[in-house]
Amino acid sequence: MKNKFYIAANWKMNKTLKECSEYMDYFTNLLLEIPESKVIFCPPFSALFTMKSLLEETPYALGAQNLFWEESGAYTGEISAEMLLSCSVTHVIVGHSERRHLFGETDRMVNKRVLKALSSGLIPILCIGETIEQRKNNETLAVLENQLKIGLESVSGEEINKMIFAYEPVWAIGTGERATPDQIAEAHVSVRNSIAGIKMGNADNIPILYGGSVNSKNVSELLKIKDVNGYLIGGASLNADEFISIIQQIENYIKESK
Ligand code: PGA
Repeated sequence: MKNKFYIAANWKMNKTLKECSEYMDYFTNLLLEIPESKVIFCPPFSALFTMKSLLEETPYALGAQNLFWEESGAYTGEISAEMLLSCSVTHVIVGHSERRHLFGETDRMVNKRVLKALSSGLIPILCIGETIEQRKNNETLAVLENQLKIGLESVSGEEINKMIFAYEPVWAIGTGERATPDQIAEAHVSVRNSIAGIKMGNADNIPILYGGSVNSKNVSELLKIKDVNGYLIGGASLNADEFISIIQQIENYIKESK
């Protein structure tokens, strides 16, 4: 039986203010009852303030796609935790593979972002995942463990309990090539065990999401995988009808399996 499901929409560098308003008007007209899931919209920074008003009186949460670890100062192009909080952001994606691979973010930088998010009261959604070369070389589980080990350095067990994790194989992001249920299940069990080892305690209730080419056609198959507590969805969350279809399938599946 599945409990609470997290469904995070990562809009990446998409949507102007007008497009956000149109999307949310349409979306909230069609879907306001989601008792089984927690939907988190992660629009670009430019839309956070507008999204704050659009999400008022809805059950949806607001997330950002990154944050910087310093308070303020000469850091052109960065955004602080306080700035995110001033837009009523509650969640923040950290260590997304596009940040790691396109912008050179290291595990050490990811760790600083995680620590800053936690100390500011933001919930980090920590993304980890292997490249295709690492998978071919049978390094997947070791890579995931290492990303977690460094990403969670100096994070207390109590803080880890507040976090959300996302397993996103780099080769499955935005490619249409989804990981198989067996690959996802194996990674999720291993990630949960690593988290339990790092926090020296139980990790059974820590949400671990899957991300990478999730859409309305494959979500029903993904829902059967044990140990997956939600999804981080990029491309398929950009279209409101597609995203609503995914959420409805999740809601129905959870209700039926209760
Ligand atoms: P995708 O992106 O759903 O387009 O593969 C997922 C993500 O990057 O979080």
